[in-house]
Formats: sequence, structure tokens, C-alpha cells
Amino acid sequence: MVADLQEIRTRSEVDQVGLLGQVSTMEDCSLPQDSLFLGFDSSTQSLKATVLDSNLNIVASEIVHFGSELPHYKTKDGVYRDPSENGRIVSPTLMWVEALDLVLGKFANSKLDFERIVAVSGSGQQHGSVYWKNGSSAILASLDASKPLLDQLENAFSIKESPIWMDSSTTEQCKEIEKAVGGALELSRITGSRAYERFTGPQIRKIFEKQPDVYRETERISLVSSFMASLLIGAYASIDETDGAGMNLMDINQRVWSKIALEATAPGLEEKLGKLAPAHAVAGFIAPYFVEKFHFNKNCLVIQWSGDNPNSLAGLTLNTPGDLAISLGTSDTVFGITSEPQPSLEGHVFPNPVDTKGYMVMLCYKNGSLTREDIRNRFAEQSWEVFNKYLEKTTPLNGGKLGFYYKEHEILPPLPVGFHRFILGNFTDDAMDGLKEHAVEEFDAPSEVRAVIEGQFLSMRAHSERFGMPSPPRRIIATGGASANESILKSIASIFGCDVYTVQRPDSASLGAALRAAHGWLCNNKSCFVPISSMYKEKLETTSLNCKLSMASGDPKLYSRYTYLLRRRMKIEDNLVQKLGRW
Ligand code: ADP
Ligand code: XUL
Repeated sequence: MVADLQEIRTRSEVDQVGLLGQVSTMEDCSLPQDSLFLGFDSSTQSLKATVLDSNLNIVASEIVHFGSELPHYKTKDGVYRDPSENGRIVSPTLMWVEALDLVLGKFANSKLDFERIVAVSGSGQQHGSVYWKNGSSAILASLDASKPLLDQLENAFSIKESPIWMDSSTTEQCKEIEKAVGGALELSRITGSRAYERFTGPQIRKIFEKQPDVYRETERISLVSSFMASLLIGAYASIDETDGAGMNLMDINQRVWSKIALEATAPGLEEKLGKLAPAHAVAGFIAPYFVEKFHFNKNCLVIQWSGDNPNSLAGLTLNTPGDLAISLGTSDTVFGITSEPQPSLEGHVFPNPVDTKGYMVMLCYKNGSLTREDIRNRFAEQSWEVFNKYLEKTTPLNGGKLGFYYKEHEILPPLPVGFHRFILGNFTDDAMDGLKEHAVEEFDAPSEVRAVIEGQFLSMRAHSERFGMPSPPRRIIATGGASANESILKSIASIFGCDVYTVQRPDSASLGAALRAAHGWLCNNKSCFVPISSMYKEKLETTSLNCKLSMASGDPKLYSRYTYLLRRRMKIEDNLVQKLGRW
């Protein structure tokens, strides 16, 4: 009965944002005094949460580390790498369920006043998918506050291990999908990206091909983002248009499912995906489970969750086309905004989650923090301090030593696991033309450290220039775990030749989610779309959102020498792709 009521409220009362063709011109965009906004980030290694007050200041935050706090799932860094199937990387779906109860329990212990939270939203690691077994909507709709979520959802999934963004086991399916729609460029033109192994469409096709019974037994497929939102509303939440663009299934111009992409992927898929919704829409009221157990207000709204990178864009308040963001989390990403996207064979186009007409463009690297950690552990005594000391004591350009470190199958460039090291011959600071490189087995330890750092940012600069992102950027804003490292930020400034800023808190994805919760609340309150900037017009100068720490910019001479090194690097990279690339 309670569940039915919840369903009715979800569908009718709160669904006022259907009117969102209009944009508010109203002046008063203030948030209710004393209200709080909660944003989650369900990422690869952890579930984080940030609470903002009505002045958009951070008032509380919590984190659950999957590896150390939920060790019974036996993941390494939150994931399983399947030794029996090349490239298969998954996470236990139930671990994310248990983490939600756990993180809310931490807030309860620290006496967070849940009653004051008026809206909740979240970020999910992009592309990962959850498979709900036939009949599970009933389980979801009748969650009992006296039992943990985990016990109640134990049998709700047709697949217990969710494929995640690190998976690279679907090359065959990518080829099939691209062929069926008329080629890689055509798929990119339709959906914003060519086929990528981690994208949800190829993952679904693999399940349809290899486990047809499981596919048949699945009534709903969620992304990590819409999955977590579903838990919070006690019903299947829509996939938002922004995270939906990371599936190779959505028409990027119309923001609806693409018939041709659906057909190329699996039969009967549209029904299993449900409808799409804009990121600022209301997914539903918070479910009675959370009202009873944690004392949320029963009128608390759950705003559509989205992907972690799109929400980071919101959290960094990125709104100028010349600005670039670099996120250094488990994955490394580089992204910016545009109004005229040109999908191509490299990179991705997603709708901007806080601008109904705008887009974001993004590049993604799989060998981010975990690969840097690997080099740190092998060559820098497992210490960031030693790592930084090595980075500082080596000279920029690393004496012509170039490293390519792929601890995981890389996305950009598409290369298999392996480390490759080269030294440019007769390298001096002034004479860099016509030097022939030769391969070596290893560098000295400090040079390994500089090579992994310079290699990544040279690659980012080269690929973002190829993709048409501004060069040099007006400025860079860095976020994610490794953005806390000033020595790394200095290298970014020298290579990109611009100022690099960091935000006060490296977790822009949960901060962005909390901001989007406030934005969604406001849109719902006004019954129309309100530009997000109106929400922080005056506040931006004084709140945690704008605490950007200026870092050094590189000198122009060094920038142009890096330009030369970058060309040499790209030639070597292109050769590696020709020799070893998997496409
Ligand atoms: P995600 O949200 O993708 O799970 P985070 O943004 O929380 O990841 O980043 C976690 C990573 O940050 C860790 O894997 C760690 O390697 C990296 N990290 C943390 N501190 C530092 C540091 N001082 N220098 C470099 N990397 C760091
Ligand atoms: C983006 C991507 C990763 C994940 C990490 O395309 O695959 O950045 O979103 O959480």
C-alpha cells in the first residue's frame, strides 16, 4: 500500500518538470533557508557523499571505501578482474547496495539532520550496468526499513556482477554494432561516440549473445546512476539523457533512444531501458524505507542521477568554452563544454547536464591513478612523497625519455596491456630535430616517475588538440584524487602552457551531484528550467564552489619544446597502434 502511494506520488505530484520547454525569467532563485542538499558519487573505488546548505557551502561529507570497508566482496580497488576471460572487469552489484546503507549510517552517527534535506542527487561511474530480474520492481517498491537493503535485494538481479567502465571484453560486439549502423563514424554521428568496449550497448549485446536466458529474464537495465536513484525512490528511475549518451544507444541530437542503434544491439531493448529524462528532472520522492530508517523528510525529492564526469562539470561550475577540466580519479578524463559538437572517431559527446541546449566533450583514459600508483609502488617506495621528490629532481622533457604505461587495456589509444619505453637519441635541450628514438627495458627510478606523468599529459594535450578542444586552454581546472598533488599540477601547467587551478575539494562529482540536487529542486519549484548560474550568481565568490587555488603556469619556451616532444610521442604512439592496436 505504501509502495503504491509512493508510485502515485512519483508519477503525478512531482512530475511537474514535464513543462521544461520553458526557461524561468523569475528573479528569485533562492533556496529555502535551513534546507540541505545531498549529493552522492558512486565511483569505482568508493561511495562518497557531500551535503550543501542553502548558501551552497559544504557542511558534511562521508565516504565508504569498497576495498577496505566492504572486504567481504573481495574486490581489488572495487572491481574483479576476471582471470578466465580477457578484459572482463565487473563489480558486485550488491556491494553498491550495501555501501548506500553504510554511508547513510555514517551520516546518522554524525547526527546529520536528514529532515532538512530537501533534495538528493548523485553521480555514477559511467557506462556500468545493472540487470534487474523479472519481478524485481515489486521488491523495490516494498522495501522494509527494519531490514538492511542488502538482504532484501539479494535475489533482485539476473546478473550479480555488473560490467563496469574498465571492461574491454566486447570488441566483437563493437564491430558488429558499428557494421550494422553503417560504420564507426556513422555511429558516432548518431550517438556521440563510436562503439567503445565499455559503453553499455556493446555490453548488453554481449549478454544477449552469450547469455540469452539471462537477457530474457531481465525486466529492466539500469546504469549505475539510474540504479542508485532507483534504490532511493523505490521504483525504476529513468536513465538521464546525459549519462544515457554513454551507451551507444541514444540519438545525441534528439535525446531519444535511436531505433537503429537499439536494433543493432539487442531485440526488445527499448522496453528494458524505460524512458529517458533530462538531468534536472525529478525521479521521485524518497522511498519510505529511507524516511523510516534515517528520518528523511517524506517530501524530499530525488533528482535524476547522472554520470560522474558530467556531474564534475557541474561541480566545477565549468561554463566557459575555453576552459578545460582534467579529472584524475581511477580514470583520467579531460572535458570541456561546447554548443556545436562534432562527434568523431575519437572522444565522446554528451549533453551538458545543466544546460538543456549545450554539450560536453570528453576524452577518457583507463590508465589513470591506479597506473600512477603502480609506478609509485615499483619505483618510488610506495610513497607519494618520494614520487614527488623524483618528479621535482628530474628536468622537464625528461632528457628525451618517453614512456607508455598500460597496466590495463587502454582506451586512448586503443592499446593492450604493456609498458613501452623509448629514448630520443642525442637529446639536448636545444637540438631536438631529427633525433631517432630507441626502445629500452627500463629507466632509472626518477625518470620512470617523470615519464608516467609527462606521458599522460602529453597524450592528453595531443588528443584534446586533435579533438578540437582549445589549445592552449584559457585555463585548466583539475579535480579527482590525484589533483591533490601539487607536483603533478605543475607538470600539467608546463605541458599545457596555461594556469592550472584546483578546487577546494577534489571530489567534484559528489559536490556536482549536490549542486544538481539544488538545481533540480529549483526547476521543480519554478515548474520550468532555471539556468544553474542564477542559483549561485552572488554566492559563487564566497562559497566553497569558488575556492580555486591558483597554480603556476608554464613558460612559453618550455611549452613550445613540449610541442615538439608531443609530435615525436604521437608518431611513436601511432606506430604502436599500427603494430598492436586491437581494432
Ligand atoms: P574515483 O572517484 O574514480 O574512485 P578518486 O577521485 O577518489 O577516484 O581518486 C582516487 C585516486 O587518487 C587513488 O587511486 C590515488 O591513486 C589517487 N591519489 C590520492 N592522493 C594522491 C596523491 N597525493 N598523488 C597522486 N595520486 C593520489
Ligand atoms: C568515462 C569513463 C570513466 C568512468 C569512471 O567515459 O569511462 O571516467 O566514468 O567512473
